[in-house]
Amino acid sequence: MKCFVKHDATQCGYCTPGFVVATRAFLNTKPKATLEDIRKGLGGNICRCGTYDGVAHAALECAKGGK
Ligand code: FES
Repeated sequence: MKCFVKHDATQCGYCTPGFVVATRAFLNTKPKATLEDIRKGLGGNICRCGTYDGVAHAALECAKGGK
């Protein structure tokens, strides 16, 4: 979750729990995911505020050992 805050990956926050859980589940199956992998892997989650870039970079940092 710290990565999500650091990368400003939350705005209204409606989608955030889903992205956090989806990110953890995705990285459990692909721990060395690239940014492209992450974008595809989380592609089913929708964010009306458009935080996709922040979410992708937060997930990438998590994949590199961030929390
Ligand atoms: S932060 Fe608002 S829907 Fe994603």
